[in-house]
Amino acid sequence: MVGSVLMDRMQAEGDFALIEPLFFSTSNAGGAAPAMSKNEATLQDGFDIEALKRCEIIVTAQGGDYTTEVYPKLRAAGWKGHWIDAASTLRMKDDAVIILDPVNMPVIQASLAKGGRNWIGGNCTVSCMLMGVGALYKAGLVEWMSTQTYQAASGGGAQHMRELLTQYGTLHAEVKTLLDDPKSAILEIDRKVIARQRSLTAEETANFGVPLGGSLIPWIDKDLGNGVSREEWKGMAETNKILGQGEGFGSAAVPVDGFCVRVGAMRCHSQALTFKLKKDVPLADIETMIAADNEWVRVVPNTREATLKDLTPVAVTGTMGIPVGRIRKLAMGPEYLGAFTIGDQLLWGAAEPLRRMLRILLQQ
Ligand code: HSE
Repeated sequence: MVGSVLMDRMQAEGDFALIEPLFFSTSNAGGAAPAMSKNEATLQDGFDIEALKRCEIIVTAQGGDYTTEVYPKLRAAGWKGHWIDAASTLRMKDDAVIILDPVNMPVIQASLAKGGRNWIGGNCTVSCMLMGVGALYKAGLVEWMSTQTYQAASGGGAQHMRELLTQYGTLHAEVKTLLDDPKSAILEIDRKVIARQRSLTAEETANFGVPLGGSLIPWIDKDLGNGVSREEWKGMAETNKILGQGEGFGSAAVPVDGFCVRVGAMRCHSQALTFKLKKDVPLADIETMIAADNEWVRVVPNTREATLKDLTPVAVTGTMGIPVGRIRKLAMGPEYLGAFTIGDQLLWGAAEPLRRMLRILLQQ
């Protein structure tokens, strides 16, 4: 799915005109290559190290298993090219940069100057969050941040999106007759829905493990065994690495922690953020700072009307915009700031940083 979105974005931005692309497949080697192919009309074998070695830059959204298998062999075979990857496998390696250039171009440039060759896309939640509120980090204002996420089904993959929609359909079918009758009792509808949710089969919940339609799941990714999910761990580890601070950079890491929750949205990850700022900064200055940070972030006025119009997954899906709204000081004191932000996890959360890194390399 990330690969398809990436191809769409690269076509929309004319990236293929700037390169001589060679397309690889892990399942259809020898098949017809996409129309953007220039000299070679067939798909190459994605596991053929010699064929891969012909490339100066490899862009992959094939997933962690592919990276684990192919990347070490490629380097062991002496390949010195640039590896641009959406998978998390190499993200925390010392020789890899987590790429999000509107936020960390200096970190990318510093690595390029030292001969860096591994460019890895960040966790979608972290990337979307930093595209929204990166300004506060750049200004050194954040003492700590707590995140409560509302993550879409797409974060699990295409099958997860299908499963969510199928569950919604199953639940609707269960009570359709009652819904069609305006005089039916809502508590009876509710009883039937919960009974159906609880009786969904292993096949009907194969991807999420439990019902997501009409429910939520407050655990994403692996159990690290210390009460923290891997998705929650990434929040602090990746935020600091993207910003070039913390362990490995000789500076203190900013604490980032909270809860990551899967909800029944399709492809936008939303997050409620609580900041403890290092000092009391007027709200108007904070809004100006956030709005000026990059060309995609938009401050949504903290009103009911603007929030309902512009600060929902439905409003944001399929767009490059990163709205930040509900910005207000919290009751705990003037250094405590709240905000709510949303991003399309397939665009800024996955595909876009990869194609932008390709552009950066082409300009070297
Ligand atoms: N881990 C994310 C999620 C997906 O499950 O929503 C991409 O980083």
